[in-house]
Amino acid sequence: MILLTGATGSIGRHLVRRLTDRGAEFRAPVRDEAKGRALGCPYAVGDFDDPASLTAAFAGVDRLFLNGPGAVPVDGEQPMVRQYTAAIEAAAAAGVERVVKVSVWHAEPGSRLAQGAHGVLDRRLTAAVPGWTLLLPSGFLQNLLLPGAFTPDGRLVGRYGGAPVSHLDCRDIAECAEVLLTGAPRPGESFVLTGPQALTDRQLADRVAHALGRPVDLLPLTPDEVAAALTAQGLPASFAADLATLLREVATGTLAEVTTAVPDLLGRPARTVDTFLADHLPALRAATRLP
Ligand SMILES: NC(=O)c1ccc[n+]([C@@H]2O[C@H](COP(=O)([O-])OP(=O)(O)OC[C@H]3O[C@@H](n4cnc5c(N)ncnc54)[C@H](OP(=O)(O)O)[C@@H]3O)[C@@H](O)[C@H]2O)c1
Repeated sequence: MILLTGATGSIGRHLVRRLTDRGAEFRAPVRDEAKGRALGCPYAVGDFDDPASLTAAFAGVDRLFLNGPGAVPVDGEQPMVRQYTAAIEAAAAAGVERVVKVSVWHAEPGSRLAQGAHGVLDRRLTAAVPGWTLLLPSGFLQNLLLPGAFTPDGRLVGRYGGAPVSHLDCRDIAECAEVLLTGAPRPGESFVLTGPQALTDRQLADRVAHALGRPVDLLPLTPDEVAAALTAQGLPASFAADLATLLREVATGTLAEVTTAVPDLLGRPARTVDTFLADHLPALRAATRLP
């Protein structure tokens, strides 16, 4: 029995579909029962903030897909490390044999935001469960569909200077997780997952323009300008400053490499940016405020 956390998220919802289609035995812990019913798969109430609910959700589980929130500040606190630690401890207590965890590329204790949090958590996981496997993804293409990716007048907001980024499609992350959860175990291995090409913000705007069939401009922002915009929206200054630091690192090319991990695991090329855009045209039109 697989426990699939983060089932309602960008990766998890695709993994739910994949595991359902192959008839795998799995259960999804959800915070909200209505969301569980909407998933259309077996679910249980489970919240990283409620360790008792996790203990119940782990009954009969031997494999875990571990994913959840990123580094989102809540009431001035950064709850991510505490939340995932509760899930890791519950998995170890339940004797789970295999854990496939979504981390982040360049995860390292002491780094900023999700990179630092995952760095700590990956070490906790590897110490607690021998059968761990880590997925270290580059930036998600699905970020293009999030609020703030485009300006109200439809320009792509560029955050990475002139540096290329090997963005990948969350559907490929879900399929890699499926292989690692249902196929031969790969304990002790880490996979840096990227798309098949690395694009600058300008090149990405051009691909979006091609997909939409109309010009799409780029609004390049410096890390300090991104931070100022976030603090103006009410986010904590420390969060904004940490994000600016990470963006400066990305601008030096830290997410530019293209790896073979996705094709190696899936036996086919990683999905391209053009495929992602073509498959998400209605959402892209909505994100760019086009009718
Ligand atoms: N975005 C990127 O470019 C990027 C790149 C590399 C790595 N990552 C990593 O990817 C992960 C996020 O993956 P994603 O985009 O698939 O997630 P997502 O779409 O942000 O969804 C987050 C999931 O976590 C669940 N969740 C939130 N709080 C929870 C709690 N207290 N207990 C249990 N579940 C909870 C959410 O459930 P609800 O529906 O109840 O909210 C949802 O299913 C993060 O760890 C991030 O660091 C992101």
